[in-house]
Amino acid sequence: MKILVVHGPNLNLLGSRELSVYGTATLDEVNAVISKEAQTLGVDVEIHQTQREGEIIELLHSGIDRVDGALLNPAAYSHTSRAIADAIRAIPYPVVEVHLSNIHAREQWRRESVTAEAAKGLVAGFGPASYVAALHALKSVLEA
Ligand code: DQA
Repeated sequence: MKILVVHGPNLNLLGSRELSVYGTATLDEVNAVISKEAQTLGVDVEIHQTQREGEIIELLHSGIDRVDGALLNPAAYSHTSRAIADAIRAIPYPVVEVHLSNIHAREQWRRESVTAEAAKGLVAGFGPASYVAALHALKSVLEA
């Protein structure tokens, strides 16, 4: 089973960015947590980070006929990007949206995720463990 993991804009600054919201783990540390869990589950993960909306779309397209599912943290694009939402609708494999923070407990504008409307499901609020929970959920969906 192959899973694509895509981190969106500003997530490269984890570990120094808004520590009280996102915690102290760096993106490398988050990726190590994801990779370790994937290994335990016998899942192959391919991990990317980009600041660009179009590149998120291209990465999702690149998974067609190549991956079984994806974990996507679109970061701030979650709240605005109809284009990423349409890309999620256009691809044949399931996408689970992931957020480190609980977007529903934050500013009003973060409480809507237009990309989550197109996703299979959403895991938010557990820090790096959001990715671990999402990986388990995605694997269950793919094995059902
Ligand atoms: C985030 C939440 C978004 O609202 C924010 O723009 C991010 C990170 C999260 O993982 O909690 O950059 O996606």
